[in-house]
Amino acid sequence: MSDLPLTTRGFPTVRPRRLRHHPLVRELVRQTELSVRDLILPLFVRPGQNIRNEIASMPGNYQLSLDRLVDEVGAAVDLGVCAFILFGIPGYKDARGSSALEEEGIVQQALRVLRKTFGERILLITDECFCEYTDHGHCGILCEVGGRTELDNDATLPLLAAQCVSHARAGADMVAPSGMLDGMVQAIRQGLDAAGYAWLPILSYAAKYASGFYGPFRDAAESPPQFGDRSSYQMDPGNSDEALREVALDLAEGADLIMVKPALSYLDIIRRVKDRFPVPVAAYNVSGEFAMVKAAAANGWIDERRVTLEILTSIKRAGADMILTYHALDAARWLR
Ligand code: PBG
Repeated sequence: MSDLPLTTRGFPTVRPRRLRHHPLVRELVRQTELSVRDLILPLFVRPGQNIRNEIASMPGNYQLSLDRLVDEVGAAVDLGVCAFILFGIPGYKDARGSSALEEEGIVQQALRVLRKTFGERILLITDECFCEYTDHGHCGILCEVGGRTELDNDATLPLLAAQCVSHARAGADMVAPSGMLDGMVQAIRQGLDAAGYAWLPILSYAAKYASGFYGPFRDAAESPPQFGDRSSYQMDPGNSDEALREVALDLAEGADLIMVKPALSYLDIIRRVKDRFPVPVAAYNVSGEFAMVKAAAANGWIDERRVTLEILTSIKRAGADMILTYHALDAARWLR
């Protein structure tokens, strides 16, 4: 900030408060304005009928059967929320996550019914990962490396590409690989191109940290790892340069948009990425961040509306062009 033209004169000639006096001046000079069009709502879909199970740690968010999913999306569209990311809770799980690849898989069905109902009025993004579909809860298939059970990076890549192609066929507008596997963007890009989806963009979870803030999501998606954790594929919270490296690699492999996740404890990462790379940046305001706000608000300890809009604004101010958030419907109501 040393280049500001404030060096020769100061108070009382200079008074920053002049720009804060009139509410309309405050609006004129505001640099960051949140819009409902910045928001992407995560949705959890499961088999069954007439199911709308509220997720205990994520008030106002539900596991939905297809019929209720359509209602939920309709209500969101009425509020101006038109972009969604879909997560599936499949009918069965196995070691390879086979249910992720089926024509009649739960996300594939959801894509078809939403596309049929809403056409081009909505944007459908799919989370591309296997942790919801594997019985062990890891993000791909496993192997033994030096006596340790590990995610089999290279063997998972073709499965990931197949999952994306399957979602593209069912109507996805954009795929978002979240597994933090090396080479995942390249494998998906090649798979999509070969299947005739060269136009379909990839939103890569490029800088995804091994975070405690995913706790509530793992209940929502019924996807906690059954042993170990995700530290061998997700990033260490102490690292920052590594995020730039991950982003650079994903861009080189063909990612069109990149994501930083979580958002709130990683605002510095969002800013570094935004300053360095001229590409759209998404931030994932994750389940634990959401749950903390809801819990504090339920106790009357914070003003939920004010805190939520402040958080979302801060994520945008840090450099995010779009925000995946469970607050999307609340925020849409407040931004009206
Ligand atoms: C993996 C995935 C996770 C989230 C989004 N995609 C969970 C994980 O990595 O353990 C977390 C989102 C959240 O906490 O809101 N498919």
